[in-house]
Amino acid sequence: VTSEALRRFDEVRGRTLALAAPLDPEDQVVQSMPDASPTKWHLAHTTWFFETFVLGPHARGHRPFDARYAVLFNSYYDAVGERHPRSDRGLLTRPTLREVHAYRAATDERIAELLEGGPPPAVHTLVELGCQHEEQHQELLLTDVQHLLSRNPMEPAYLGARPPPAAPSALAWADHPGGVVAIGHEGRGFSFDNEGPRHDVLLRPFRIASRLTTNAELAEFAADGGYRRPELWLSDGWATVQARGWRGPLYADLATNRRFSLHGAHALDPHAPVAHLSFYEADAFARWAGARLPTEAEWEVTVGQGRSVGQQLGGALVAIDGTGALGGCWSWTASPYVGYPGYAPPAGAIGEYNGKFMCNQLVLRGGSCFTPPGHSRSTYRNFFPPDARWQVTGVRLARDLA
Ligand SMILES: [Fe+2]
Repeated sequence: VTSEALRRFDEVRGRTLALAAPLDPEDQVVQSMPDASPTKWHLAHTTWFFETFVLGPHARGHRPFDARYAVLFNSYYDAVGERHPRSDRGLLTRPTLREVHAYRAATDERIAELLEGGPPPAVHTLVELGCQHEEQHQELLLTDVQHLLSRNPMEPAYLGARPPPAAPSALAWADHPGGVVAIGHEGRGFSFDNEGPRHDVLLRPFRIASRLTTNAELAEFAADGGYRRPELWLSDGWATVQARGWRGPLYADLATNRRFSLHGAHALDPHAPVAHLSFYEADAFARWAGARLPTEAEWEVTVGQGRSVGQQLGGALVAIDGTGALGGCWSWTASPYVGYPGYAPPAGAIGEYNGKFMCNQLVLRGGSCFTPPGHSRSTYRNFFPPDARWQVTGVRLARDLA
């Protein structure tokens, strides 16, 4: 158990450093908007998580690496004290990147010592939660770097090589007869608290698209006045599209067929899944297409069970994970992010991980090309507010069956 836990811990910690490696120190300090965090902050905060929730309570005689980090790198845990304002993370030129790397190395050593001491199962559970947490931040690190680099007129690329263009694939529909289905995680293996309890849901007969919506399909919607026709939009969505002047997905220019990605500026691939849409745009597109967004239960019992789900889920960032294509997107669902029947957050500060965000957000399912390999699963519940666009978010259509 110990050697497996150590191997897992080292692999996750090392992968974060590998993701940061293409960046220069200047890239790792700046915060491009309040929702996005600097790379240096991600490097430190994921370390703070292990220090605060594993070493503090479980390593005998633990002394903080630097007591001031408790406030600087606390993201949102009220139970562990004060925190530095989220919107000011880009002002932290100190600690320096070198000091943050030293913080990581010292914490890694202490965690390794703890694991080598043969700790109780509860410690293993917390270390695994820390690894899963760090994997979530690996995806955020990439989405935040993309946003940061997109604000630079030089259009810098984080990665040089680009994957080949996506092949066209006809849209087909998979029918489901409806009825009582069970969703949610149970049994062995890691899951977040918000994935359970497993419970029954009643579905009406429906069909779901065989693939994600493409850039070409979204462009048709835009060319048909999709962004200018209030009848296609939810009221909040229409207000938002007006206020922000949206005319296409974030990072895409439909007039020039160009987009900005971690590969820099390049042509929009017509057959690749459309990415960086808000829930509002996903919902309006679905209405225009004579369809709707699936509920999270509909997604889980169809796409989530599919043999190809491994390909649709995360994976594949060119040059870091070896192979794969830019393109996998989280799917917006029509489901509000609330606790499942019988859900209760765990006791203590860790209970703040998911439970307190169950208001005013929508569930996303699947994974994206930025999601670490093996991180997501069919019961995984991602969540963002309806106007969020800097994550790798797309659309999969559903329809009622008569
Ligand atoms: Fe976090």
